[in-house]
Amino acid sequence: MAQIQFQFGKKDEYFTPAYAVYPIIPYLRPGAAVWCPFDTQDSAYVRVFSANGFRVIYGHIQTGEDFFQADVPECDYIISNPPYSLRTQVMERLYAIGRPFAMLINFQGIFGSQKRFQLFKTHRVEMIWLSPRVEYMTGQGELLQGVPFQSGYLCSGICPNQLEFVYLDKNRPEKE
Ligand SMILES: C[S@@+](CC[C@H](N)C(=O)[O-])C[C@H]1O[C@@H](n2cnc3c(N)ncnc32)[C@H](O)[C@@H]1O
Repeated sequence: MAQIQFQFGKKDEYFTPAYAVYPIIPYLRPGAAVWCPFDTQDSAYVRVFSANGFRVIYGHIQTGEDFFQADVPECDYIISNPPYSLRTQVMERLYAIGRPFAMLINFQGIFGSQKRFQLFKTHRVEMIWLSPRVEYMTGQGELLQGVPFQSGYLCSGICPNQLEFVYLDKNRPEKE
């Protein structure tokens, strides 16, 4: 494992471990269609949702599917870990699309921008706080320890309560 060194230029290329996908599943309708718009076939979202009976539609900028240009597929939910540097634009588009969504993001400073504050003031927002902190992975599959921020799911139309608190099981084996 590597000691974490979040680099500003590379802050969008951190990947989600499977254990951080499981907490969202109890909030979803079994067998629903989930669009993962920042994901390739190797993504933990694609693997875990597929193995747990969901219909998964996925796309990634590297395979030519730009979230901001893509036609919205038939889906019940939009769920992923989006690029950090584009979080405001991602939120704007998600609310414009109007489907239930859950995005795993760094919660630090999430209400600190005027634009996001206004967005969350005028739309339904829910937060699932996760403990312990999610440790992300590099593109080489290395788990980064000592993550310096708290992340969780920022959702809309997913949770009954606006604040939820969920424990992570970091040792949970991934179902094939
Ligand atoms: C934080 S990473 C998370 C990747 C994956 N969702 C996961 O959870 O492991 C966000 C990914 O979105 C990709 N991305 C950036 N801009 C995008 C866009 N406009 N449309 C689709 N994917 C994009 C980045 O290249 C990056 O790999």
